[in-house]
Amino acid sequence: MNQPLRTDLQTVTAVTHWTDRLFSFRVTRPQSLRFRSGEFVMIGLPDLNGKPVLRAYSIASPAWDDELEFYSIKVPDGPLTSRLQHIRPGDPIILRPKAVGTLVHDALMPGKRLWMLATGTGFAPFASLLREPETWEKNERVVMMHTCREVTELDYGRRLIEDLHADPLIGEMMAGKLSYYPTTTREVSPRMGRITETLASGKVFTDLDLTGPLDAAGDRAMVCGSLAFNKDVAALLERAGLREGSNAAPGDFVIEKAFVG
Ligand code: A2P
Repeated sequence: MNQPLRTDLQTVTAVTHWTDRLFSFRVTRPQSLRFRSGEFVMIGLPDLNGKPVLRAYSIASPAWDDELEFYSIKVPDGPLTSRLQHIRPGDPIILRPKAVGTLVHDALMPGKRLWMLATGTGFAPFASLLREPETWEKNERVVMMHTCREVTELDYGRRLIEDLHADPLIGEMMAGKLSYYPTTTREVSPRMGRITETLASGKVFTDLDLTGPLDAAGDRAMVCGSLAFNKDVAALLERAGLREGSNAAPGDFVIEKAFVG
């Protein structure tokens, strides 16, 4: 049976193109879908000629939202995004109503300072987690580090964080708790450098006036980026004494691979 079940079809409600390589979109939410902020679902487009291509997409909207939001790269010859980048409001989209993932609060032991470490579209799960009350209830400080090659690639995250302060639910809870650290690596901007470099050198602590270095007693981390990024950050966190956690065995940091293609 190649065609998706009818119940898996949702409707695109909005599309925003942020750069020629990045866009976000909103879709109707299946009534049966429950998810924890930070989880992902499988998404695809109906295909008349065969089996639809489905890919894992982190949900970028908060768990309480009536709709679902996603943030995606556009790859000209990508099996899904070459087509997905052309969607318009009203178009059908396949969405399997089952959310899973490890980038969730349940997979972390209680801590004091939560590091959200993202490159590129790895910001998506944090767009959900930053709008999740539990994030602010459970942590004294949240440090959102987002690194992209170029300045405009930071726009989606920057806008979301600006809006967060005015959010009636979250604005008050997060007051004085968020440190935002956007950097670029290939275009000159006020703050530059890879996340691994600014953490290892201590620059991020100096720039944000935070106590360092990382300390397994109070620091927790959620990591979402490319495979190479995730691997390098995991090694850095492990050197600082943090242990990787999972849903079955909560720990000090968790990792999810950002979808590309
Ligand atoms: P850089 O420009 O120095 O490669 P990409 O688009 O390749 O996924 O990269 C997104 C961002 O992540 C870029 O700013 C890139 O920096 C950075 N990056 C890529 N790989 C790593 C890594 N292994 N460790 C830290 N940062 C990385």
